[in-house]
Amino acid sequence: YPLEHPPTLNWSFAGPFGHWDVAQLQRGLKIYKEVCSACHSLELVAFRDLRALGYNEGQVKAFAAEYDIQDPTPNADGEMVTRKGIPSDYFPSPYPNSEAAAAANNGAAPPDLSLMAKARAVERGFPTFLLDIFPWSQYQEGGPDYIHGLLTGYGRTPPEGVVVQPGTHYNPHFIAGPALAMPQPIQDDQVTYDDGTPQKLDQYARDVAAFLMWTAEPHLVERKATGMVVIVFLISFSVLLALVKRRVWSDTP
Ligand code: HEM
Repeated sequence: YPLEHPPTLNWSFAGPFGHWDVAQLQRGLKIYKEVCSACHSLELVAFRDLRALGYNEGQVKAFAAEYDIQDPTPNADGEMVTRKGIPSDYFPSPYPNSEAAAAANNGAAPPDLSLMAKARAVERGFPTFLLDIFPWSQYQEGGPDYIHGLLTGYGRTPPEGVVVQPGTHYNPHFIAGPALAMPQPIQDDQVTYDDGTPQKLDQYARDVAAFLMWTAEPHLVERKATGMVVIVFLISFSVLLALVKRRVWSDTP
């Protein structure tokens, strides 16, 4: 089947000085909550992690309380209880188990999205991954490019000879086949933005892909900043060593 390369986008978190666009991450969270969470869990992300997106403790508590959580431990009477979420809970799956998830989606359980932006990268393997060490390499953003491409890739006519199985939807970006069990989840004007950002599919896809990059690698910005300090230190240290070496080994007394 013809796999189409998703568009390569410019992300705020790309490059050696990459940083999060916090307003974008907040919009992405809104999309995840209003759209994706109907089918996908985010089981490695706790509500308290949202503090990093600029929310205060009260807001996080109120956000968590909007979810019903099945408590992992039975109560004193040995019954499993469902209660309101608290900040230390994790984003739950909307389904009780994976069988129910698969049954509701034509046999394909919607995967957890926590690490999706790291799990899907468009081009990988030797020798491409060697390029990742260069700051201008765009392969590091292959995951969010893929998620954006997938969300904006619906509605095309399959090329001649491509068979789309019943219950699946053609998408030229899907890595595992010409079509997937997820119908187009989001369209223009579906989610309301309060900050005047255009309510367009392309924008929604960018925002939720950036949010999923944050869930997959919340310490990306710190990692890059530390890397920068390390490189500057190593360069200055090499210069110092070279000067010391010249002094120590020089013939002049
Ligand atoms: C698969 C993202 C909403 C059902 C996926 C995949 C991604 C994704 C990245 C993995 C594709 C792959 O394996 O490469 C999203 C996002 C959503 C969203 C960002 C919100 C904007 C939904 C909704 C549903 C859904 C609302 C249910 C109606 C599924 C299913 C699969 C899937 C069933 C598995 C597809 C297959 O393997 O055939 N989604 N999704 N998704 N999603 Fe979603």
